[in-house]
Amino acid sequence: MTDKAIVVIGASSEIAKAFITEQANRNPDLKVISISKKPSGHDQNIAAHFQCDYSPSQISQVGKSIKELNLTIVGVTIFNGVLHREDGKLPEKKLEEIDLDYSMMLFNINTMLPMLWLQALLPTLKGKHSCVVTALSARVGSISDNQLGGWYSYRSSKAALNMMFKSAAVELARRAKNIKLVLFHPGTTDTPLSKPFQANVPSQKLFSPTFVAAQLSDIIARQKVDGTVSYVDWQNKPIDW
Ligand SMILES: NC(=O)c1ccc[n+]([C@@H]2O[C@H](COP(=O)([O-])OP(=O)(O)OC[C@H]3O[C@@H](n4cnc5c(N)ncnc54)[C@H](OP(=O)(O)O)[C@@H]3O)[C@@H](O)[C@H]2O)c1
Repeated sequence: MTDKAIVVIGASSEIAKAFITEQANRNPDLKVISISKKPSGHDQNIAAHFQCDYSPSQISQVGKSIKELNLTIVGVTIFNGVLHREDGKLPEKKLEEIDLDYSMMLFNINTMLPMLWLQALLPTLKGKHSCVVTALSARVGSISDNQLGGWYSYRSSKAALNMMFKSAAVELARRAKNIKLVLFHPGTTDTPLSKPFQANVPSQKLFSPTFVAAQLSDIIARQKVDGTVSYVDWQNKPIDW
């Protein structure tokens, strides 16, 4: 087997940065391939960094370049996710706030981007070794858990991501039996994504990226390839769909 590596997509996320550090500390020999629209902010264990604009053509190209590295990819973790827009547009509280451009941006990034990566990386991931592919989802993407309403686009984009992964698990159980899919809810974590919504979160419920990265690393390490997708929170507790 060639050297083992993990792929970290959306590597500038605060949770992703802590995850890379955690993985490098746990497995000094593990190689890390990072992908971001930003330049590499990390050098611990980084075997390659790809700066990517996330267009379908660049995703496909990066997928091919990763295959050429000839590493054994044992994990892929996709951190990309947006909740609010740079111009100050916040998640919707009522129907009047629904905005097509904002919704489409969230569906593109939160739902479709992980699927484009799964598509681009499949030829590299398929094989005899087990490989855990994790996407950062959110508990608010649970349809059965939705008691509060609001956040129409973010909730729906994560619910759609969950359904995409559910379908992919059915297909991969036939086509790539070595791949395990995981949807992970980190809990409210202190990052730019949650900044505007932290005021009412009790301090013990606002997690640090370092804590979440350790939880996520434990959860990934415990996965067994079983042809299904797991939708779990930071305690590894299953979330109802
Ligand atoms: N923080 C929380 O409380 C919380 C709760 C539940 C779920 N989550 C989920 O956790 C994940 C990580 O978020 P975080 O909290 O670490 O947030 P963050 O630090 O703000 O990171 C944002 C992430 O989104 C990506 N991103 C931003 N704009 C993008 C764009 N235009 N196109 C493509 N990707 C873009 C970034 O990728 P680049 O490296 O390419 O910039 C980065 O991976 C997200 O999927 C989020 O939905 C977070």
